[in-house]
Amino acid sequence: MPLTPLKAVFILALHAASSFASPVPHPKPNPLSIPGSLIPDISRIIQVPGFNELLSTLAPPLPILRVPTPPVKSPPFTASSLKPKKLGYFWTGPGNIAYADFLAVYSLDDDTFGTFITLVDVPTSGNEPHHLNVAKDGKTLVGTGLLSLLKLQDVEYFFDISNPYRPKFRNSGRAVLSSIGDEIVAKPDGGFFITHMGSAGGTNLGRLTEWNAQGKLIGEFPSALDIPGTLNIVKDQFSPHGLSIDFDKNIILTSDFVVPLSTLKPSLGIQKADTLRLWNLSSRTIIRTITIPGGGGIQDVKFIPGNKDSAAIATAVDLGQVWIIYPFKKNADGTQGVAELLYDLGPRAKGVVAIYSDFSANGRFLYLSLTTANHIAVLDLKNLKKPVRLDNPNEQQPVIGVHSLRVTPDQKNLVALGYFVRQGDIGLINTPADYKVHYVDILPNGALSFNRTIPFETEFANRGGGRPHFSVIADLTDPKKPKFNSY
Ligand SMILES: *[C@@H]1O[C@H](CO)[C@@H](O)[C@H](O)[C@H]1NC(C)=O
Ligand SMILES: *[C@@H]1O[C@H](CO)[C@@H](O)[C@H](O)[C@H]1NC(C)=O
Repeated sequence: MPLTPLKAVFILALHAASSFASPVPHPKPNPLSIPGSLIPDISRIIQVPGFNELLSTLAPPLPILRVPTPPVKSPPFTASSLKPKKLGYFWTGPGNIAYADFLAVYSLDDDTFGTFITLVDVPTSGNEPHHLNVAKDGKTLVGTGLLSLLKLQDVEYFFDISNPYRPKFRNSGRAVLSSIGDEIVAKPDGGFFITHMGSAGGTNLGRLTEWNAQGKLIGEFPSALDIPGTLNIVKDQFSPHGLSIDFDKNIILTSDFVVPLSTLKPSLGIQKADTLRLWNLSSRTIIRTITIPGGGGIQDVKFIPGNKDSAAIATAVDLGQVWIIYPFKKNADGTQGVAELLYDLGPRAKGVVAIYSDFSANGRFLYLSLTTANHIAVLDLKNLKKPVRLDNPNEQQPVIGVHSLRVTPDQKNLVALGYFVRQGDIGLINTPADYKVHYVDILPNGALSFNRTIPFETEFANRGGGRPHFSVIADLTDPKKPKFNSY
């Protein structure tokens, strides 16, 4: 394996770590959106004379940085006084990236479906809004930015939804060692775990980050002083995108997707990973690397709700396959964590850039978005030995570039978004999209029936269209017990 400059820096960090015994000081997060240096000063943590100088000379060439201009505010709009029971929150980038990124709120009730309720801008633009999730108490949303680092700005954007009909932007933050915000899992006691697919400069060596309920960074893992962990991530590409946590069994799975910088020009080709990491939740340390041979980007991983073996599914994008991971089973060589092929989604599913997933709350039905195949596959996992495919693999579905999937809290609909990533001239990822919210009916047998949509291209035409990457769905049918999507 070649010794890339960033690896060299981290090997150096290892030497620093071995002569520095005190626990990792938790780096203080930056206050609100003050552009700092792209690669932060970590000489406080890694105490080697000349470390920052070394970092400067070894840093790889970066893609085009964007001038961190302030955003143009969203054009004036009228908020609706409707108070629907079912709401969709959509973390959205404008087609014209000079405008602020925003969170849009829509009614998903049958009688007012698709009515615009309101939107709220964040104080920055060009983040490429990415994943979105809700805190356990249902009062906070956090959205991540895939490309925030190109404008040297914050990656995590927190919203207060204590009034669900009038979300407010609350604060933002960023990590120190890592960037490129991806999947988000809420912690039972408030706060979030969030994968960062890249280093602070967007190269290999991302981190699993942890945030408290106030949106302050708690830590990044493996920590700079976790020597076995650092050796682990230096050995095999560590670009964590997928994230799933079994809080009862005390384990985490992260899945490695692609090196973010390798998707931006200049690029020698996208560097895809074929690994997952199994973690000890309470110590935030890696137990083992699990490999899916030839996986070609393991975009997503999710524990199967209610599975007695704590099994998880993982999506291998180049292979177009779904694998099953048994975290507590042992391999023939005694190592923990077994990976087996669960289902091959067939020729149309191979190399589709992204395969994301969601489960029905009971773990029986698995929905899979095959982005460039413009298709959502459905597996009935009643018998894990014999998954039954419920969609017709050759059907032309009315979706383009589908990615994010959310089963609604009442299990009656699947919210699928027709947008993945369009990096434009600066990058290699420009998947076709219809920019629609697809509100798909789930039939009693778990299969899908395409029905209603909300067209963000026309809804936000006054800023070049809207690109909804991710949703959170709220069901306020019982106002005392609001329900949200299940992960
Ligand atoms: C996880 O970490 C905790 C705390 O360090 C430790 O007590 C426990 O034995 C670890 N569990 C496993 C499975 O390694
Ligand atoms: C679409 O959804 C509405 C509301 O649930 C329903 O009345 C209608 O029958 C559905 N149409 C189709 C074609 O499934």
